[in-house]
Amino acid sequence: MSKPKTKYVCQRCGYQSAKWLGRCPECGEWNTIVEEIIVTAQLPKRDFSERPPISIDTIETRDFFRLKTGISELDRILGGGIMPGSAILIGGAPGIGKSTLMLQALYYLSRQEIPALYISGEESSEQIKLRADRLGISSSYLYVLAENTLEAILEAIDKIKAKVAVIDSIQAVFTEKLSSTPGSVSQVRETAAELVCLSKRINLAIFIIGHLTKEGAIAGPRVLEHIVDTVLYFEGEKGHSHRILRAIKNRFGSTNEIGVFEMQEKGLTEVSNPSEIFLAERPINMPGSVVIATLEGTRPILVELQALVTPSPLPQPRRTSIGIDPYRLSLLVAILEKKVGLNLGQQDIFFNVAGGIRIDEPDADLGVVTAIASSLLDKAISPEWVLLGEVGLTGEIRSITQPEIRLIEAKKLGFTKAILPKHNIRHIRHKDLEIVGVEGVEEAFQYLF
Ligand code: TYD
Ligand code: MG
Repeated sequence: MSKPKTKYVCQRCGYQSAKWLGRCPECGEWNTIVEEIIVTAQLPKRDFSERPPISIDTIETRDFFRLKTGISELDRILGGGIMPGSAILIGGAPGIGKSTLMLQALYYLSRQEIPALYISGEESSEQIKLRADRLGISSSYLYVLAENTLEAILEAIDKIKAKVAVIDSIQAVFTEKLSSTPGSVSQVRETAAELVCLSKRINLAIFIIGHLTKEGAIAGPRVLEHIVDTVLYFEGEKGHSHRILRAIKNRFGSTNEIGVFEMQEKGLTEVSNPSEIFLAERPINMPGSVVIATLEGTRPILVELQALVTPSPLPQPRRTSIGIDPYRLSLLVAILEKKVGLNLGQQDIFFNVAGGIRIDEPDADLGVVTAIASSLLDKAISPEWVLLGEVGLTGEIRSITQPEIRLIEAKKLGFTKAILPKHNIRHIRHKDLEIVGVEGVEEAFQYLF
């Protein structure tokens, strides 16, 4: 096969060049120029008259048959099982357990005599077999292929007539049509697009694994989010065994679900009551600890905030913050002094967002002021509360975005009471929690202390 011609195109302004450039000379952006294949082949003339637009009333829907993996946390997130012919992206940091989860899912499918193919561009067949032995997996319907050339992968999928396939990982796969290295934006996009195209054509459900690095490398799974049907992210903290699977896009189900797993000696097991794990390390009834529900992109997450307020020996007391902007902390401390009348002038304040998370949104404000007040007054906040709200300069509580999905997450994790900005509660349909709407910090404290 002769190598097709390629060109380099700026993804921002469309500027084209014959060679790669670090910076687009047209729009001045850095790292936006990506190799693309020039399509020169003349398309055969086709007759499209057989498929005219039809009235929506006349379209019949089939109740699609979904493939159940038997891992209920995974099936639920997918919207009740795997839709045949769908493309699912599984993103996550290296070492989080993506390969393990997928191998387990394929095993459960193969036990139902559904031909399943696990393609690894990262590990040899022996390595996969070792992992399978560790997981106690063996099935004649489970096929393994160690390969990273796209052309060979496409052929193998066709040959086995697999119903479900896993590509582990998209960053390891490359097409000979492009000269750029595996893992580059152009390779990731082109190979994924071809795999998705094949899956639609032969009605194969395909899981595409993508490594997501902390820095959010541009060649990561994000560039694929729009070409797949479903996007799942697998997350977890270093040093902790629990893992969260979230759907952030799903054409065949809801995106409000999370699935919780625990990584054990013999693979991932489902956690049916996630709140236990999340709240396991949270000190209960200890002054200075509160829980808020923040949004990470489109995803709600519950976070514990901790404050330690102690009398300072220094003429200029310390203000230390980890996980929130120090200026925001100073501002909230000033509001507490001026508007609530707390005396923090001679106190050191140490502030921490537990779990190494960074919060840039002001939606954590009510939680921050409450944690500080709780530590200063040495009064604990009852553990059933989750706190939501931005604090304004006059001590007023201002509304936040998307309160509903935060409340759903809080409910899921076992919280029963929420404090919300008064402005938000008019629109809340979610009635599973006891919700209190407040207009000011002092009013919130009346409920909490
Ligand atoms: P893996 O699935 O290889 O992660 P990814 O594909 O996302 O990079 O998981 C790797 C980690 O999981 C590794 O640190 C070992 C651990 N692990 C277990 O604790 N138990 C197991 O049964 C398996 C297979 C892995
Ligand atoms: Mg892996």
